[in-house]
Amino acid sequence: MIKDLSKQNKTVITITHDMEFVVREFNRVIVFADKQKRRDASPMEIFWDEQLLTFSHLKQPYICQLATILGHKDGLTIEDLLEEKEEKMKHIIIDCDPGHDDTLAILTAIAHAEKLRVLGITTIGGNQTLEKVTTNAKNILEFVQAEIPLATGQKGSLTKELRIAPEAHGDSGMDGPYFNGEHYPIASDNAVLFMYEKIMACTQKVILVGLGSLTNIALLIKVFPEIRNKIEYINIIGGGLGHGNTTALDEFNIYVDPGAAEIVFNSDIPVVMSGLDVTEQAEITVAEINGLKNKGRVSHLAYELLHFYNHSGRQFGFINSPIHDLCAIAYLIDPGMFSGTSYHVDVITEGKARGLTYADKRLAAVEKQNTFVLVEILYNEYSMLSLTLLFIFF
Ligand code: BDR
Ligand code: CA
Repeated sequence: MIKDLSKQNKTVITITHDMEFVVREFNRVIVFADKQKRRDASPMEIFWDEQLLTFSHLKQPYICQLATILGHKDGLTIEDLLEEKEEKMKHIIIDCDPGHDDTLAILTAIAHAEKLRVLGITTIGGNQTLEKVTTNAKNILEFVQAEIPLATGQKGSLTKELRIAPEAHGDSGMDGPYFNGEHYPIASDNAVLFMYEKIMACTQKVILVGLGSLTNIALLIKVFPEIRNKIEYINIIGGGLGHGNTTALDEFNIYVDPGAAEIVFNSDIPVVMSGLDVTEQAEITVAEINGLKNKGRVSHLAYELLHFYNHSGRQFGFINSPIHDLCAIAYLIDPGMFSGTSYHVDVITEGKARGLTYADKRLAAVEKQNTFVLVEILYNEYSMLSLTLLFIFF
């Protein structure tokens, strides 16, 4: 998409993107900061421009990233920089059930290509049926002309009845925008094998991001236990230590397949958990949502998604919209944005409290800590808005 826009001489924002890509692909670059145009030059000029380091407000992570690249130039070739950068890159696989918030998380991960290498996306039935969430994933990846392999996974839990959430996400699972086709290829219909192969082929440890129920990820651990050494951690959105959203106690993703969550928490792979305690702080306001309207192709799509999602959220008492799944990606982009505590976390799989996640908070906790639970977003003024603002630019 960016390439095509540039060929059409359209304005392209590059500060959220990989500088090597920018140098290779563009004749002309326009740099924005704080929504002001700061520089209009060739990519190489920008790349070497010390002046860019003098931006007064280097608060947004992607601007800081550009500054970091520029700051390293002494004595290093671009190849050195790229090699160094590749080592710092987080290699991730996103397992999801799009879903409005899943989609915002996916778009944000793609937009932060300077930090995240998305090795693949896998789908799991949840917010809607597997067929519908896969259609949504195809539509969205096609919309941004992504080149990320997509694989389909399980229809739902292996042991529980299918549970979907049309009340929150509509009949399609992602109501709001209209898409006129879904031609994006499916790389595999076996998400478990797909994840295994991607992880084994990666030279670094991989971070698994679970934005839906954890059936695919639990199966991966059970079928290929050796994979544990190659997973850095599993970054999930689900559960919570305070309250639920599906019942008073249980959050949707964990409720849908508590047995899978139990496998993940007890896998000996570290878990980072964004539960409802933190995801409900990750709100985008109505004014911010309206601010995305007609700003650009992707920002307008974000507006259409959030407009629907905001209205459906009203029935659950929300005025603003918590973008739950975006927390997992935000943590990867800027972990300093959150505070958290390590606990031993486990889950109730049956009965009235099915899906309840609980932490051993005793001073002398018996079992070893397995989960870093995010509890607070630290600088809310730049939180969800600054992450979603990048949509305005496309
Ligand atoms: C979670 O449930 C789903 O509806 C959302 O996509 C999110 O993953 C929030 O409880
Ligand atoms: Ca989700």
